Amino acid sequence: MEVFNSRSLKPYSTFGIEAKAGLFVECNKLWQILQVLEQFNREPLLILGGGSNILFTKDVEGLVLKNELPGITAEAESDDFMLVKAGAGENWHQFVRYCIQQNWGGIENLSLIPGNVGAAPMQNIGAYGVEIKDNFYSLEALDLKTGNLRTFSAADCKFAYRESVFKRDLKNRYLITSVCFRLSRKNHQLHTEYGAIRDELKQGTTNLPDLLAISDAVIRIRQSKLPDPAKIGNAGSFFKNPVVEQKQYEQILEQYPDLVSYPAGEQKHKLAAGWLIEKAGWKGYRKGDAGVHARQALVLVNYGNASGKEILQLSQDIISDIQQKFGVILEREVNIY
Ligand code: EPU
Repeated sequence: MEVFNSRSLKPYSTFGIEAKAGLFVECNKLWQILQVLEQFNREPLLILGGGSNILFTKDVEGLVLKNELPGITAEAESDDFMLVKAGAGENWHQFVRYCIQQNWGGIENLSLIPGNVGAAPMQNIGAYGVEIKDNFYSLEALDLKTGNLRTFSAADCKFAYRESVFKRDLKNRYLITSVCFRLSRKNHQLHTEYGAIRDELKQGTTNLPDLLAISDAVIRIRQSKLPDPAKIGNAGSFFKNPVVEQKQYEQILEQYPDLVSYPAGEQKHKLAAGWLIEKAGWKGYRKGDAGVHARQALVLVNYGNASGKEILQLSQDIISDIQQKFGVILEREVNIY
């Protein structure tokens, strides 16, 4: 285990933004993490997973600990279900594909989401009608204050739309070491209700989709709309889809009858932020190397050498414009450092 001084973080975030870590260490064993915490306990600490939901706007003065804890194990099984535990450092998409190979169902709609297993519950990742909370069983996390391991149930995690306790009350307090999922072994509950998946499956040959067909469909949809971080820096959706009250929804709808939205509980509506941003004229916008993706306006991109501050400024300009045009305040989904 090597501790590096002044390490460039550019390769460690999917935005590909230049920033330096004062100290940087990668750990693939729990004892290494404990040792590092003891050794550098006065340093401010940033824990990094796959780096797919962070925008660096400055250097990190303290220690960056890249969580690489590996391993996938079947913990328990019944006729119908598996409990499968994955180390926080496992690549999310590879884990999803591994489960599909074993015919374990539940997370196939979450194929091709960048990042690692450990970060998935932090923001309750979701796509195409499924969120991680739907198949979550428990997770283990290291209390950074006491060094003790604690098990969190789904209720403990307080999952909500792109939210968990780890982004709120317990921010920076825990390092997630592993996540356990409850996956189906048969009678899989397939989620094909999302329009794009239905359309994509119709193109295929099979009438009865299986886990693999859904995963492949999701991959094709994502590849057609979302920029590949290996080619163009980005962190997926930069903003959350905002939820507004009935009255405001009706006001916007009156002015824009083609508004895209979804019911979000009683008298509430979730608006497609991508639609708002596109309608406001930002889709495909570019200033220097910072831009709004041409096929999905919810995704901000770094064409090469944008700084984190430039991307942040672009996001601020979009927020102000959307507020002015629609009276809606967009909230960032990506963590800003
Ligand atoms: N839309 C536009 N213009 C755009 C983008 C979207 O008009 O430029 C409208 C379209 O009508 C489209 C609708 O918005 O039908 C919804 O778009 P899409 O299906 O692409 O989904 P999204 O609401 O933009 C959310 C998630 C994505 C997830 C998809 C699919 C959030 C913040 N984002 O995006 O998650 O993949 O649904 O379920 O909830 C991520 O979190 O990083 C992410 C990519």
